Amino acid sequence: MVPGLHCVGRVTACDPRDLFFQEDREMSAKTMQDLFVNQLQDAYSAETQLTKALPKMAKAATSSDLKAGFEQHLTETKGQVKRLEQVGKELGVKLTSNTCEAMEGLVAEGEEIIGLGLETEVQDAGLIAAAQKVEHYEIALYGCLCSWAKQLGYSSAQTLLHQTLEEEKQTNEKLTHLAERQVNLQVAT
Ligand SMILES: [Fe+2]
Repeated sequence: MVPGLHCVGRVTACDPRDLFFQEDREMSAKTMQDLFVNQLQDAYSAETQLTKALPKMAKAATSSDLKAGFEQHLTETKGQVKRLEQVGKELGVKLTSNTCEAMEGLVAEGEEIIGLGLETEVQDAGLIAAAQKVEHYEIALYGCLCSWAKQLGYSSAQTLLHQTLEEEKQTNEKLTHLAERQVNLQVAT
């Protein structure tokens, strides 16, 4: 199995023939390229939403390290938007025709945390959790995109998407360290 294709597991978990006959191929069948482009657009929507959400999260964070982490990831996210634009340009596809509803939900959850009126350290813990949910979503998305780019022979796209995947993984690890340190500090006080 190609790494990253786990995200379509719910399709392959059932008898693939069911899926094939289900739609009876009434319309012309969409291809792997169509799926790749659809998810590329999803990623573009997700990242552009984050360029608006991260400044709010940085503003709400109390810990200076967490605030700096969000600000650093905002810079990275703007770079990720540029990478996606480069991929779109190279493949000749428009990126703005899809809305990532999952990211809308994840951003809304972050805003909900800010609106709860929590103690500052507790709010920081909530913000870290909200950010890690975002990173896990992005790691899954870019993991699939990288695998599909490789499968489709889009080597330049694969390289660019892999750079972003690594940034998302590193961001997630930094958030884990911040969360662990915060817990340790609370235990020590
Ligand atoms: Fe990102």
